Amino acid sequence: NVIPVILSGGSGSRLWPVSRKSFPKQFWALLSQQTLLQEAALRGTDCTLNAPVVVCNQEHRFIVAEQLREVGITDARIVLEPTGRNSAPAIAAAAMIVAETDPDAILWIIAADASIGRPDSLKEVLAHGVRAAQDGQIVMFGMQPTGPNTGYGYIRKGVPLSGDEGVYEVSAFIEKPDTARAEAMLASGDYLWNSGMFLFRASTILHELERYAPDVVTAVRQSIEHQTKDMDFIRLDPESFGRAPDISIDYAVAERTQHAAVIPADLGWSDVGSWDALWDLSPKDDDGNVAVGDVFLANSHNCYVRSEGIVAAVSGVDDLIVVVTQDAVLVSHRNHAQDVKKIVSRLEAAD
Ligand code: GDD
Ligand code: MG
Repeated sequence: NVIPVILSGGSGSRLWPVSRKSFPKQFWALLSQQTLLQEAALRGTDCTLNAPVVVCNQEHRFIVAEQLREVGITDARIVLEPTGRNSAPAIAAAAMIVAETDPDAILWIIAADASIGRPDSLKEVLAHGVRAAQDGQIVMFGMQPTGPNTGYGYIRKGVPLSGDEGVYEVSAFIEKPDTARAEAMLASGDYLWNSGMFLFRASTILHELERYAPDVVTAVRQSIEHQTKDMDFIRLDPESFGRAPDISIDYAVAERTQHAAVIPADLGWSDVGSWDALWDLSPKDDDGNVAVGDVFLANSHNCYVRSEGIVAAVSGVDDLIVVVTQDAVLVSHRNHAQDVKKIVSRLEAAD
């Protein structure tokens, strides 16, 4: 009994100016005709028999309901957070809601900000993962690292777990290391990247949260006790939920638990986190350019140019990102695409 839980509460600030607080990246069709939320939700329903639980900010409830309806999902349970408190409270809320009827149900946490190029491999590893999760493991999927990226969790693969082929103990988990540590882990060859997907029993994760992040559990439990029904939405009580510490599941549980397992897998996984990642993932013309929308390119190479409604002309430049929206323009070197997050915080501070 596997229940997909879609985390759809991030702000996606590195994809500014397309991704905005009011309409963040998971609601945009960045790679295909479907939005990242729709891809994540369909990933969930294609591989399981159950309707998903979607956890998102209350401001986005109609966008979420409408986007799910567009892909034929009308029976999702949509849980509304009054404010984003990161993934640990979001997962705690989903786990408690599911546990009310079935504490042994397996939750499959799916981040709405990744692309999976090989859905068939996903189905295969999922079956192994579900068995390990039934045995009480917190199951992660290990992606082959390709560089010393500091934005991911690093999983050290331990000994094979008895009973299930392809499932290993996690002997260490390091979330978002600094560059030196990331380089050392990459060089050692012993580490995999965390995909951001997890499998566990609702009761397992609640037990681990109780142990390592009891304040999260207390606050979220109260927010569920005082929930209000708003049409079909489950609205968590703002006052209690606001008391939950702002912490991700990676810091709260993955780094500390003694019951983690990893399945190394080749899923064609990519994090759709930044414009350079989108350039990487998108089909390119003969000059290595990606052009989306009303774009004109001349004598330019390896650029990502996106514009909707306004003509953007780019000439004689290489390795640039140019993103034009109705009210903002981003021009960045591809190698500095990660800095967009910093620019956005400065813009917000200046507001
Ligand atoms: N509902 C809800 N509420 N969802 C949230 C919240 C929140 O407050 N904060 C984040 N999310 C969602 C995001 O939308 C995304 O789908 C997922 O949770 C992960 O959050 P990110 O903020 O994108 O995390 P990250 O990218 O820094 O790191 C995670 O993902 C990496 C892979 O992409 C970690 O799990 C890393 O270990 C992992 O390598
Ligand atoms: Mg992310």
